[in-house]
Amino acid sequence: MTQLDMTFVRSQFPAFSSPVLSSHAFFENAGGSYPCAAVVNRLHRFYTDRKVQPYGPYPGAQAGGAEMDEARARLAAMMGVTGPQVSFGPSTSANTYVLAQAVRLWLRGQNAAIVVTNQDHEANSGVWRRLIDEGIEVREWQVDPQTGALDPERLRALLADGKVRLVAFPHCSNVVAEINDVAAISALARAAGARVVVDGVSYAPHGFPDFPSLGCDVYLFSAYKTYGPHQGIMVISEEFGADLPAQGH
Ligand SMILES: Cc1ncc(COP(=O)(O)O)c(C=O)c1O
Repeated sequence: MTQLDMTFVRSQFPAFSSPVLSSHAFFENAGGSYPCAAVVNRLHRFYTDRKVQPYGPYPGAQAGGAEMDEARARLAAMMGVTGPQVSFGPSTSANTYVLAQAVRLWLRGQNAAIVVTNQDHEANSGVWRRLIDEGIEVREWQVDPQTGALDPERLRALLADGKVRLVAFPHCSNVVAEINDVAAISALARAAGARVVVDGVSYAPHGFPDFPSLGCDVYLFSAYKTYGPHQGIMVISEEFGADLPAQGH
């Protein structure tokens, strides 16, 4: 294909032929994209034929379990990771919230600092800033007020005393449309002994990243902004996952 076939693309999205929606143009993709027909059909089939305890000894339960496994395996393959590295949650905000509870316990009593930015969406900011209640020092990596860019040299200064254990920043800022060099920033932070959490929500609609080549410890995005179901996806490196206390049952 040398040209994007818009007729084909539009035909993949049931919402574009909905009479209820026909009076308005859709510009809300920052808030969430419409799922494509393949997703709608899969969800419909799941809720009508497979919405039972998965893996039970009968066909609907077997098919439901197999499709849940398939979702994990296919997402993992798209991002270059193993299945256990992928976590599903209700949203990215919920995923960072749960992650921050694990980090709270991981850093308890350690005289640690973390770095947040003022280029982030609240989802990758507030949960970290609130760790101040745990005695964790919160340092803000501020954007250049002229350009809106995050200068790695400013981060280098924040990391200098070796106290920082975690750095959170966005892959792409939806405040200033800045794409950050995740691999370079991750290398800088990792070399200073910090773990790296990247909010990929604004970036993922433009392409799923190859997680290993980014060099971060956690990468998050929201499937419902990539034409998928309303879920948050969180990839955690095996190494960091092993450090964190479990938050599930
Ligand atoms: C850059 C960015 N990060 C995080 C979020 C939060 O995602 P969610 O709605 O899945 O919690 C959003 C939502 O708009 C966002 O734009």
